[in-house]
Amino acid sequence: MEVLRTAADLKQLDQWRGAKPLVLVPTMGALHAGHLSLVAAGARLGPVVVTIFVNPAQFGPNEDFAAYPRDLQADLALLEPLGVKAVFAPPVNEIYGGEGEVTVQPGHRGQGLCGGDRPGHFSGVLTVVAKLFGLIRPEVAVFGRKDAQQCLVIRQMVEDLRWPVRLADGPTVREPDGLAMSSRNRYLNTEQRQRALCLWRALNAARELLAEGERTAGALREAMLGRLAAADRTEYAAVRQVPDLAEPATVAGTILLAVAARVGPARLIDNMVLDLRGGAVRDGFLLGDLNSRDFLNEAGE
Ligand code: PAJ
Repeated sequence: MEVLRTAADLKQLDQWRGAKPLVLVPTMGALHAGHLSLVAAGARLGPVVVTIFVNPAQFGPNEDFAAYPRDLQADLALLEPLGVKAVFAPPVNEIYGGEGEVTVQPGHRGQGLCGGDRPGHFSGVLTVVAKLFGLIRPEVAVFGRKDAQQCLVIRQMVEDLRWPVRLADGPTVREPDGLAMSSRNRYLNTEQRQRALCLWRALNAARELLAEGERTAGALREAMLGRLAAADRTEYAAVRQVPDLAEPATVAGTILLAVAARVGPARLIDNMVLDLRGGAVRDGFLLGDLNSRDFLNEAGE
């Protein structure tokens, strides 16, 4: 596994461009089983490049950029057994050199939800993802459904700016009790860790209502807000359409149930993407299904 630090080092990636698609999995490190699931799914398609870069542009002035966990050696030890070909872990000045005035702005999908609570966040995400796409030139990029709004703003950037890259989303990996894995879970003490489960409970309460036939967005929101009372502060409980993130009065098609709340020092998010077509309530997708035959075929398998 090559560990690459500079843009010039990325010439090495040419040895893996060929019959199978080069697959990019962007991360900020502090890797856990959620990240690793995306790497493993990508590796079934083609050679995988993982980027590890704590992107300053996506953190607000009062956010945890300085405190964000960093442990490159531990991350490399987790990636090596998965057959990752290369890890790109650049210093900040390799990504944000020069005048740095050009940024990518999300459209309406970046407003509201995490975009409302974290002004500038999605511009920071899109700007770094655009830079990573330009540097690595992957044919496939894999993102976690855990960050649903991020998936949908990246999808719109790729569609609007005509990036020649195929996108796929992997399911959220959870702890045995349901808590979504997150690098920020390590900020929680035992008591907070217990209360953090209210996000998962909120989503399940809404899913149960859907299974019983409820289709009114307001009723789903109320059910989520009730469970989120266990958090220290609810930032949002939302019911949105996929992919445009419009707010429906009555739900149909593929929908996003999304919650964000503060528990102790951590800002936690979680969601469910649900496909309601045909009357059933099934897990849905935001980008592409890595395991579908179509995705494999179109990616050149
Ligand atoms: P980071 O939070 O490190 O996450 C990297 C990728 O892992 C993202 O696509 C995220 O959605 C996914 N992920 C996180 N937790 C997950 C879980 N429990 N299950 C499955 N996937 C999970 O997201 C970012 O970094 C950054 O914004 C980035 C895209 C790298 C741009 O800087």
